[in-house]
Amino acid sequence: MSLPADKEGLRLFFALWPDEAVRQALVDISRHLAVPPGAKRMPPGNLHLTLAFIGTQGGEVQECLEQQAAAIQVPPFTMTFDEIGFFARPQVVWLGDKNPPEPLLKLAKSLKHAQLNCGLEPETRPFQTHLTLVRKARHPPEPFQPSPVTWPVKEFVLVASETLPEGAQYRIIRRFSLHSA
Ligand code: 2AM
Repeated sequence: MSLPADKEGLRLFFALWPDEAVRQALVDISRHLAVPPGAKRMPPGNLHLTLAFIGTQGGEVQECLEQQAAAIQVPPFTMTFDEIGFFARPQVVWLGDKNPPEPLLKLAKSLKHAQLNCGLEPETRPFQTHLTLVRKARHPPEPFQPSPVTWPVKEFVLVASETLPEGAQYRIIRRFSLHSA
């Protein structure tokens, strides 16, 4: 199904998108989490790590963001997801990397610059490495030490999201290969 590109534009975000092997490892961890009543596990096909949430933008801004993103120079890197965490206000249980690699942080910072260069106001809070596993969680999960998941990251993606009655639907618009100068 295609998503509508209405006159308001698309609801966009940049993310790391797992390949099938990594996705399966993430699903295995998610399955081991006890999910309290009312909370919702992310559907396997929606698992991702948000690098920068953009919001709804028209074609011109999208084009500018794509140009900026294509010019980012960050080498490929490897992440190790090795901790479970909880954000109380957005009520999410997440999987994180205790020692986020420097290129990941550089990538997140570069995407903030990209937004500024396209006339947008990026999130002022520092980037927090987290991959949401469960939403609408009113309480932190039981302590749980996941088997570390190694994720070799070679690209990042621009994604459009649409909120449907059955939940969020995501479509990858464009992939950007990681590379250094
Ligand atoms: P998350 O990274 O904690 O899961 C698409 O909506 C993605 O952008 C989600 O994964 C979501 O959170 C992230 N995101 C960050 N800020 C957001 C906002 N203000 N509204 C919606 N999603 C946001």
